[in-house]
Amino acid sequence: MKVSDKIKFLLSFIALFNLTYAGPNLDQSKVMGPESCGECHTNEVEVWKKTHHATTIDRMHRTDAAKEIAEKMGIRRIKSESLCVECHYTNKQTTDLKSELIAGISCESCHGEARDWIDIHNDYGDGAKKETESAEHKAARIEKAILGGMKNPRDLHEVASNCFQCHLVPNEKLVNVGGHTAGSAGFDLVAWLHGEVRHNFLRTGDKANADNSIESKRELFVLGIILDLENSLRGTAIATQKATYGITMAKRSAKVLAKLGQIQQIAPTKEVEAILGIVDKSMLKLNNKEQLTSVAEKVAVQGKLFAKNGSGKSLAALDKYVPKAEKYKGEVFGAE
Ligand code: HEC
Ligand code: HEC
Ligand code: HEC
Ligand code: HEC
Repeated sequence: MKVSDKIKFLLSFIALFNLTYAGPNLDQSKVMGPESCGECHTNEVEVWKKTHHATTIDRMHRTDAAKEIAEKMGIRRIKSESLCVECHYTNKQTTDLKSELIAGISCESCHGEARDWIDIHNDYGDGAKKETESAEHKAARIEKAILGGMKNPRDLHEVASNCFQCHLVPNEKLVNVGGHTAGSAGFDLVAWLHGEVRHNFLRTGDKANADNSIESKRELFVLGIILDLENSLRGTAIATQKATYGITMAKRSAKVLAKLGQIQQIAPTKEVEAILGIVDKSMLKLNNKEQLTSVAEKVAVQGKLFAKNGSGKSLAALDKYVPKAEKYKGEVFGAE
């Protein structure tokens, strides 16, 4: 093979990889497993064990729906298929470099692989306790843990991004050929975070599973729609066929774009204004990868700014649209 052909050959693989990209991929050599968190975060682990995220490991592969998807995709063992592992399971590298299935969607699926931060994030310094740790030490510790790969909920944009990477199911073949759902239709960050997934014990000193303030829910509500737009644009970007996947992603993009338009009318922010200036419905067509990806990047920048600026106080006009407790997805465990 000529050098130029070799390059072309390699590029074709990269293209193929991009098209089938799905969900967040964990570096298995850095995965510690939920047991390692449970040593200190007992309540969080107990709550997590009851969620669909945890129970998918025992449940999903046995269902008829799963068997049907596997058959259409030509997959023999769901639990050892990397495609399904990306969004449904947590795998860890064993000492003899094999890949071992250890859990469903677990702590590190959302907080990042922990090998390089687990011993840093909770270290208050020589002899210090939580109460006696200096502000500088605390800031440095949080920063170091983030550099070690921790997705810290102080940066909600970072942690909530994960939800959308899995829940929009950005994989054309899995949807069009496999018949997998094209994303969680009703996914709303407030409703889906405050039900069974909620595990806010730290802020109450392990006394109860705390709810968030209305200010932070308003922010989450808008942030969720911005993230939905970013990820449905990315999803539309990889669509090549006029079939379920591409149609669902494009429709979803248009719907959340319209929602952001309404939000801007009710409670304007400069980030949403910027987004509405960047994204246009006419971009939502097949095989428009470059433009849509670049627009999605710009939406992400505004999403990060929005999360950082925390404009919750000025968003009160949105309160009647923010999902209330009866809309929360699943049961809250250990609430106040
Ligand atoms: C040896 C005990 C210990 C282990 C093991 C541990 N943690 Fe923690 N974790 C803590 C303590 C203590 C805090 C509170 C730190 C503070 O005061 O800021 C904490 C805080 C956190 C926070 C909140 C961060 C913040 O800045 O508000 C997250 C998220 C977290 N841990 C996730 C995990 C995950 C995921 C694992 C397993 C991979 C884990 N922890 C393992 C003790 C531990
Ligand atoms: C990009 C992420 C992603 C990938 C890859 C993925 N899934 Fe899913 N899957 C999801 C999400 C998110 C849901 C929940 C959908 C909802 O809310 O309706 C789900 C739901 C399901 C369900 C229905 C729920 C249940 O437990 O019965 C089945 C079955 C399923 N997936 C099978 C598979 C199989 C088999 C594979 C591998 C071929 C796979 N999935 C790969 C994200 C993914
Ligand atoms: C690694 C992929 C992944 C990530 C990250 C993820 N999810 Fe999920 N989630 C799934 C899958 C897959 C299911 C379906 C599991 C099943 O039922 O088999 C699911 C199910 C759920 C359910 C239960 C839905 C039901 O039908 O009752 C809720 C609620 C949920 N996720 C919320 C969230 C939130 C909120 C986030 C982000 C903070 C998030 N998820 C992040 C993959 C993921
Ligand atoms: C589906 C994604 C997801 C999974 C799985 C997950 N977390 Fe979290 N975690 C989050 C998000 C999002 C927040 C911020 C929640 C909020 O502010 O309401 C958070 C917050 C936390 C906090 C801080 C809570 C507080 O009181 O402020 C700790 C500690 C934590 N997680 C530990 C864990 C541990 C340990 C596990 C595994 C047993 C785990 N998480 C599994 C997404 C997840």
